[in-house]
Amino acid sequence: MSEKLQAVRGMNDILPDEAELWQRFEDTVTGCLKSYGYRNLRTPVVEPTQLFRRAIGEETDIVAKEMYSFTDRLNGEELTLRPEATASIVRAAIEHNLLYNGPQRVFSVGPMFRHERPQKGRYRQFYQVDAEALGFAGPDIDAELILLTARMWDDLGLTGIRLELNSLGSVAERSQHRRELIAYFTGHQTALDDDSRRRLQTNPLRILDSKNPAIQELIAGAPQLLDHLGADSLAHFDALQAMLHDSSIPYRINPRLVRGLDYYNLTVFEWITDRLGAQGTVCGGGRYDGLIEQLGGKPQPACGFAMGIERLIDLMRDAGEIAAPYLDAYIVHQGERATPLAFRTAEALRSGGFDVVLHCGGGGFKAQMKRADASGAHYAIIIGDDEAARGEVTLKTLRDERPQQRLAADTVAERLADLMIGPD
Ligand code: HAM
Repeated sequence: MSEKLQAVRGMNDILPDEAELWQRFEDTVTGCLKSYGYRNLRTPVVEPTQLFRRAIGEETDIVAKEMYSFTDRLNGEELTLRPEATASIVRAAIEHNLLYNGPQRVFSVGPMFRHERPQKGRYRQFYQVDAEALGFAGPDIDAELILLTARMWDDLGLTGIRLELNSLGSVAERSQHRRELIAYFTGHQTALDDDSRRRLQTNPLRILDSKNPAIQELIAGAPQLLDHLGADSLAHFDALQAMLHDSSIPYRINPRLVRGLDYYNLTVFEWITDRLGAQGTVCGGGRYDGLIEQLGGKPQPACGFAMGIERLIDLMRDAGEIAAPYLDAYIVHQGERATPLAFRTAEALRSGGFDVVLHCGGGGFKAQMKRADASGAHYAIIIGDDEAARGEVTLKTLRDERPQQRLAADTVAERLADLMIGPD
């Protein structure tokens, strides 16, 4: 026997039973995005490596350790499987002059790739819904993005997801804070762990993000960026908070929320749940006013977020959501005359908007009825040669004991429509 092959570690198959829930999730979320005027944009999964280096930052974990980068053997190009969507969307917006006619609200859904250590809620291929508001200076759009996510949780039937908020200020405010952080942590270098000592040279802000219990006290005493915000940054942050109050969206200010990508300024936020263990952040985002210029576009402000679909699907399952397969009818047929009538009937039903499986592969009535029962269909439509000769079919409910009925084949779509909307 040939050796069995397996999927790459950290990359999952989503089988039909689970995919039904994914479909429901995506329908709900894209419906919600549409109701806020967001339009779909799709970018390639592979981009020039340079794009992510410049956008996300050389010193971030993503760029330093997690990217699937390779040289295209055929032409020597340096390429990377996208680890996130924001850089690609900004690249596309610049390349196609998307902001020429004013600001744009766009969204994208698809797989991202990061070479992380796989565990529950953390994968090497994972899916994100990503929404970006390009060309808006906020803070109204920041508030709208947060309202939109809150509505999504509602529409998905999810509770217990809390909002954390912070402001990273301007570039100048951040570099002043950075100097103070370096001075503070340098004064306590012996108390730092290896990771944080390395970050002290490269990305001291990320030390604040450390989960190591041994250095939490040290972090708690570090200078806070919020104390360094100038009047403009404070006004932006205050206005956002006022809008959230006004919309009754509860939140907590977390001065240590710094995010793992370098492009942010001013508003950053995360939605977090305690129900998923260590990987509880289901959505993260913020403002990135410098990125469009940094990637070669005309300077334009922007703000956005991305949510991890696997984590949200886990939450939906946790909330008792199951997606039963849905099928209106299963057509059982046997005989030379029966089969063409079965095909015609199936097509007529599909034209009438019904979801129908036509039994394929032959077999006796009994075996076919077993398949019909297992399919989850509401009705079986049974066609034998005798019935076919009279242009008739038998309609049988699979969910209750109502008696089966004979009817003319060309009336079956109409009859099914009556039954579906009538009292069950
Ligand atoms: P991020 O925080 O890196 O932000 O990712 C957003 C979300 O993607 C996370 O909160 C999490 O739910 C999910 N996620 C990230 N890594 C994994 C993984 N390895 N396995 C499963 N889920 C994961 C961004 O990607 C930014 N582009 C968000 C953004 C958009 N900011 C502005 N616009």
